[in-house]
Amino acid sequence: MRKIVIAGNWKMHKTKQEAEQFIDEVKQLKTNERVEAVICAPFPYLSSLVNKVKQTDVKIAAQTMHFEQSGAFTGEVSPVMLADIGVSHVIIGHSERREYYHETNETVNKKVHAAFSHHLTPIVCVGETLAQREANDTLTHIEKQIKIALDGLTDEQIANTIIAYEPIWAIGTGKTASSADANEVCDHIRNIVAKITSEQTAEKVVIQYGGSVKPENIDELLSTSDIDGALVGGASLEPASFIQLVEAGN
Ligand code: G3P
Repeated sequence: MRKIVIAGNWKMHKTKQEAEQFIDEVKQLKTNERVEAVICAPFPYLSSLVNKVKQTDVKIAAQTMHFEQSGAFTGEVSPVMLADIGVSHVIIGHSERREYYHETNETVNKKVHAAFSHHLTPIVCVGETLAQREANDTLTHIEKQIKIALDGLTDEQIANTIIAYEPIWAIGTGKTASSADANEVCDHIRNIVAKITSEQTAEKVVIQYGGSVKPENIDELLSTSDIDGALVGGASLEPASFIQLVEAGN
């Protein structure tokens, strides 16, 4: 049975004090073996949060990283640095990184390889714009994103990749894809992965949905066949609502 992974992506929110207080409030969260709770925090807080979550069921992720191990890349953070401080996951290719920082499918692929080289679990984001959805291009667009992102990975690495399907038109807009629509795309993603590797490997891949997920809609999303968790923005900022989201997976 696949894991349920609930990841809160704080984006560029919270002071250090707020971040630490959040962890204090969610510390008592108990997940069963099937559920994983992850907080994707801003770089300056990662080290302190990693220390704070020791002995808890919460894991800490970065929201992006560079693909090189080190070098003259002012302002960047490398996979070596993240692994060194005990970060376990990293979001790769979020649509905001693709839109504002020109990340491409090719850089996403390099970052996924770099993540595995340093024992970080990549959460690879894919998703279509509203224009692509209206032009019936969703599945073609996502197929291209996935094929390039996973290019050159071993079957084992693919099995350990988390894929987050985030339709761009649903991010921060309050518009959630219906659970049926979201599941249809997630099922398609699993078929693409099966074509690249094998059905057995594809069955192991955790596929999250992201885009206006909240306590009110998480149960329905998780009741589908191919949605194995959520990548949550706004609703992950409050401890009470993050706890509810994680408990929905328990
Ligand atoms: O990565 C999470 C995200 O982009 C969705 O944000 O605020 O719509 O849950 P939100």
